Amino acid sequence: MSITVAIDGPAASGKGTLARKVATHFGLAYLDTGLLYRAAGMKMLDGLAPIEAARKLSAADLERPDLRSAEAGRAASRVAADGDVRAALLDFQRAFAHRAGGAVLDGRDIGTVICPGAEVKIYVTASEGVRARRRHAELTAGGAQIALEDVQRDLAERDARDRGRASAPLRPAEDAVQLDTTELSIEDAVARAVALVAAHLDKT
Ligand code: DC
Repeated sequence: MSITVAIDGPAASGKGTLARKVATHFGLAYLDTGLLYRAAGMKMLDGLAPIEAARKLSAADLERPDLRSAEAGRAASRVAADGDVRAALLDFQRAFAHRAGGAVLDGRDIGTVICPGAEVKIYVTASEGVRARRRHAELTAGGAQIALEDVQRDLAERDARDRGRASAPLRPAEDAVQLDTTELSIEDAVARAVALVAAHLDKT
């Protein structure tokens, strides 16, 4: 099976959980492309220029325990606005997407830039309030002490930057199926995504 599934959407929309579960369901490889930008962002905070941070990313950088922090998310969104950084990370993502056996990738520009030919494209959304609550729960479960309002403000700023940048802004691909998870359980959202992929596999 060689299929590429592109899953995009704003921060904390649930796309990561969805992508991981769809990949497991179909036995596909999975890449969280946000991790690449988070790791590059943390290297920038360590003192490297953004392009150097992106070029020098190593497997060890992708295993740093602080990549899920709010600080890493903010730094990721900053380096991700740099077109040269995006270009430096492009080949790795494309090669992953086209690996034998198929793959699921989640991010902001998978359906529009990285894999415009992806067989299945899903654009995941949820209301800002629900996304803030989900991210807040995630961060506090990880031990962070942070107020819900701060998380919400952070998400709004990040989305505005991700949508407003000139290079590969966050937006749904024209042929993406939109999936609003505001009122869906994880199980229901996964069932819908699985059905979309299964429908494509039936056709081939
Ligand atoms: O999905 P995430 O929250 O881990 O992503 C962190 C930041 O990285 C996000 O604010 C924007 C950037 N990003 C991007 O620009 N393109 C991607 N494909 C993935 C992430």
